[in-house]
Amino acid sequence: MKILAIDTSCDDTCIALANCKPFEIISNTVSSQVELHQEYGGVYPSLARREHQKNLVPVLIKTLKKAKLLKKQQNNIDEKKLKIILKREEILFNDLKEFLSSSAKPKIDAIAVTVGPGLDPTLWTGINFTKAISKIWNIPIIAVNHIEAHLLSVLLENKKQKFPVIGLIVSGGHTQLVLIKDIKKYKILGETRDDAAGEAFDKIARIIGLPYPGGPAISKEAKESKKQLVKLPRPMINTKDYDFSFSGLKTAALYASKKNKITKDFRQSMAKEAQQAIIDVLIKKTIKAAKDFNVKTIFMGGGVAANQELRKQFKEKSNKLGIKFQVAKPKFCTDNAAMIALTACLNKNYKKRISTNPNLRLK
Ligand code: KG4
Ligand code: ZN
Repeated sequence: MKILAIDTSCDDTCIALANCKPFEIISNTVSSQVELHQEYGGVYPSLARREHQKNLVPVLIKTLKKAKLLKKQQNNIDEKKLKIILKREEILFNDLKEFLSSSAKPKIDAIAVTVGPGLDPTLWTGINFTKAISKIWNIPIIAVNHIEAHLLSVLLENKKQKFPVIGLIVSGGHTQLVLIKDIKKYKILGETRDDAAGEAFDKIARIIGLPYPGGPAISKEAKESKKQLVKLPRPMINTKDYDFSFSGLKTAALYASKKNKITKDFRQSMAKEAQQAIIDVLIKKTIKAAKDFNVKTIFMGGGVAANQELRKQFKEKSNKLGIKFQVAKPKFCTDNAAMIALTACLNKNYKKRISTNPNLRLK
């Protein structure tokens, strides 16, 4: 079974093509909008939606080309139907009409798409694109939960895994600890009560004058730090639950930045301390969950999981305790559609009627 997978949950236009059994990624494309959003210091949903409309067809063509599945062929497509599906996606309509009427239907069995969580306007563009392709190529749609995909991203490279596993999701919008009893059997143990870990990176970066996205910028700056000029709290590190809170960390960083002149040394020290504060809390709480539930494997996923220092320290601490720590390559931690294809293969949630769910939760 061959699956085409789409993710437009935030600011990256992601398309991948994969075989389900055995699972194999045939091609994987991500078109980043980072430069555009950098000007505004964050993601603007309506701007991101317009970019997805412009990017989706070129990214699809690139993905099919890499998979050697792109063939020219004149087709009579039902333009009226396409127009109804894409009535809110004017830019996309023209591109897709041209593509579908001049390309042969590739050998694909299903199309998977992220339905949530994410930004509602950008999710809709991905869903409408999927609906249009599904209609014209007559292939079924599989709905995918973006968080489940981050959670399972480890399996992209380590196919044989035993459950139960403790999963830590650390992305721009989410910080959650999950007990994965098996695929499709999840229990949320705890989550952030305010900001997500990625959001903390992004907000603190902004406070000290670093660009969006804050995570990679802070990690780079932290490496240069030579003196400790600032100390930040480790919110909720010793609480008995599995919840997190990062907004106090951001506030502490803001006060410290107001009290001090933001010199190069201060910026580097703040980056290192903020990163370490986030790392300390994430590791402590995740290992506590693994111990409490007597689970011997930890999975980590989501954009923040690309952080080198976090990966290194997690591995060291887990190994010492005889816990297996697993994380995908950085390019599969940040948003991508390879993880969407994998999740669709493992959880074939076919949908006749599909719509967004920006607040979708794991079940
Ligand atoms: O998973 P993701 O790509 O998108 C969401 O689903 O939110 O996560 C994006 C988040 C951003 O907050 C970004 O700053 C953070 O991941 N991030 C990082 C790193 N790379 C991306 N945080 C820390 N270190 C990194 N290397
Ligand atoms: Zn994500």
